[in-house]
Amino acid sequence: MATERTFAIIKPDAVKRGLTGEILSRIHKAGFSIIAIKSKWMSIGEAQGFYAVHKARPFFGELTQFMSSGKSVVMVLESENAIGKWRDTMGATDPAKAAPGTIRRDLGTSIQNNCTHGSDAPETAAFEIAYFFSGHELV
Ligand code: CDP
Ligand code: MG
Repeated sequence: MATERTFAIIKPDAVKRGLTGEILSRIHKAGFSIIAIKSKWMSIGEAQGFYAVHKARPFFGELTQFMSSGKSVVMVLESENAIGKWRDTMGATDPAKAAPGTIRRDLGTSIQNNCTHGSDAPETAAFEIAYFFSGHELV
């Protein structure tokens, strides 16, 4: 497996509940390098653009309101197989269905308020990283 980068968010629900440190600790323990990180309060337009792939879904309005309801922490993570490894570390979308020991199972409170985001493929990782970070932030 080659070294890979993925895009991660600590969502507003987790930031508001004071879980940023706990989630960063899990990221370090899982063996990721944090290549870039910043606090970001998305506008509704930024959230709509980020989740444009879901614009026809019934949850799109609530999701974009939620993602623009407070500060997030946006990050670029690097490791071998980073995309799959971060998805495994987060767990399934619905915390009730996520495996024990995953972030979403341990810390998430609903299918929407599931604490974290992770890219699902190399193409989405490239789009999502470039959506929030410039090249000079990624050296
Ligand atoms: O985040 P993930 O890739 O696991 O799931 P998704 O299907 O790409 O959905 C994106 C986000 O929309 C989820 O992480 C949830 O916050 C939210 N969502 C929701 O509110 N209700 C659903 N039925 C499905 C997803
Ligand atoms: Mg997704």
